[in-house]
Amino acid sequence: MLNDAAVVILAAGQGTRMKSRMAKVLHGAGGKPLVRQAIDTALEIAPPERIFVVVGYQADRVRAEVEAAGAGAIHQAEQLGTGHAVLCGEDRLARLGGRLIVFVGDCPLIRAATLEELAETQRRSGAAAAVITTDVDDPTGYGRIVRGAGGDIEEIVEQKAATPAQLAVREINSGIFCFDSGALWKHIREIRPDNAAREYYLTDMVSILIRAGRRVAALKVPDSNELLGINDRMQLAAADRILRERKIRQLMLDGVTIEKPETVTVDTGVKIGMDTVIGPFVQITGDTAIGENCRVGASSIIDRSILGDNVEVFPFSMISGSTLDAGAHVGPFARLRMGAHLGEGAHVGNFVELKKTRLGAGSKSMHLAYLGDSTIGEKVNIGAGTITCNYDGHKKHATTIGNGVFVGSNSTLIAPVELEEGAYIGAGSVINHKVPAKALALGRSRQVNKEGWNRRK
Ligand code: UD1
Ligand code: MG
Repeated sequence: MLNDAAVVILAAGQGTRMKSRMAKVLHGAGGKPLVRQAIDTALEIAPPERIFVVVGYQADRVRAEVEAAGAGAIHQAEQLGTGHAVLCGEDRLARLGGRLIVFVGDCPLIRAATLEELAETQRRSGAAAAVITTDVDDPTGYGRIVRGAGGDIEEIVEQKAATPAQLAVREINSGIFCFDSGALWKHIREIRPDNAAREYYLTDMVSILIRAGRRVAALKVPDSNELLGINDRMQLAAADRILRERKIRQLMLDGVTIEKPETVTVDTGVKIGMDTVIGPFVQITGDTAIGENCRVGASSIIDRSILGDNVEVFPFSMISGSTLDAGAHVGPFARLRMGAHLGEGAHVGNFVELKKTRLGAGSKSMHLAYLGDSTIGEKVNIGAGTITCNYDGHKKHATTIGNGVFVGSNSTLIAPVELEEGAYIGAGSVINHKVPAKALALGRSRQVNKEGWNRRK
C-alpha cells in the first residue's frame, strides 16, 4: 500500500481497433473485464476511496463495474485524449495532493509491485513524474521514449507524430505514470491538441515538465509482457493467456495439483485449496471457491460455485451457480445449475440434472434423473429415471421429499407434491398426491399375464 497516492485509470475510450459494439474496457481477460482487472490491481496499492476511473463511452455500463468495485467514476463526455481525460478529474483529484498514479485501463498485465516500484522511482529521484517503459520487438502503435544525450528521457512521441528515426525506437511508453500531484495540476493545461489526431495527449506532460525545469524519471522494466496494451482482439487473447498462466502457476505454488496445466482454464478470481487435483481440460470460472483435497475430473466445467473439502467431481460434469458441501460426489456427466445444493456426502451420478434443488446430506441420485425446484431431505434414494414434473406450461411448482424416502426407478413426480418422511414409491409410479410418512405408494397399472397368448397367435 502507498499511503500518499491516489490512482486514476483512464477507461473512457471506445477502443475502435477492437471492432466491437462494446466498450474496450468491458472486454474480458482472465475472466474479468479489463477495467475490473485494472481496479483490482489498483486496490493492491490504494484504498477504494483513492481510486478513480474516467468513464465516457458506454459510461453507464463501465460505471457499474467501477462502482461494484468500490471505486469512484469521473465522467469524460467527449473523448479528446488521455490528457483531457485526466483533466476531467481535476476537481476531485487535485485536492487529494500527494502523488497521482495514472494508468490506462487497457493494460491488464501490470503488477501492483511494479506500480509500487514506479512510485518509489518517482520519490527517490524527486522527479515531477516517473513513467514505466520497456523494450519491445515490435513497438508499432505505442508511444516512443525519446532520450537525450545524457540518457534522460526527453519526450514521448506518439506513433502518428513520430519521425522515421523515432519510429525505429524500441523503448515504448506503458501509459503508466506517477506524478507529483502539485506539478501535474500546475502544468496540465499546457497540453495542446497540436497533433494529427487533434487530441490532448497526456504523454506531452513529459516535455512540458522538462521545459518547466522539472525532471522526469523512467522505470524500465525487463518483462515487456507486463505492459501489453490491449487495442485489438489478438492482444486481448494474448493478455488472457498470460493472466491465466500466472494464475495456474500461483495455484500450483500454493499446493494445487494441475494435470496438463496447459489445457486448464482458470479465471483469476477463483480460489482452490491445498491438495486438490484438477484434471486436464477443466474450466473453472467466475468467483468459484473449491476446498482442500477435492478432485475435479477431466473436462468438467465449474462456474460461480462453492465446493467444500473432499468433494469429487468426476469427468465431464457441468456445475454452475451451485454449492456442494464437503464430501459430495458428482458425475461423470452430471449437470448442477441455478442454486443446486448438495449436502454433505450426497452423491449425484451420471446423466442427472439438478436445478434449484437441494439434495440433503447422504442422499443419492445415481443415474438418469431430473430434479427441479425440489427440496430433498437426508438419506433419500432417488431411483434411476426419476423425473420431477416441475413445469405445467405456465408455472414452476415445488416438490418436497422428506428424510429417508425411497423413490423407485422411473418414477414421475408431478409437482406440487410432497413425499413425507420414510415414504416408499414403487418403481414406475406416477405420483401426483401427497404420500404420507412411511406409506408405500404405487401409482401404476397392475401387470396382467395372459397364459399361452403367444402360442395361439
Ligand atoms: C496510449 C499512449 C501511448 C502508450 C499506450 C500504451 C497516449 C496519448 N498514448 O496509446 O503512448 O504507448 O497507451 O498502451 O496517452 N482514454 C480515455 N479518454 C480519451 C482517450 C483515451 O479515457 O479521451 C483511455 C482509453 O479508454 C484507454 C486509455 O485511455 O483505456 C488509452 O487509450 P488508447 O486509445 O488505447 O491509447 P493508445 O493509442 O494505446
Ligand atoms: Mg491502448
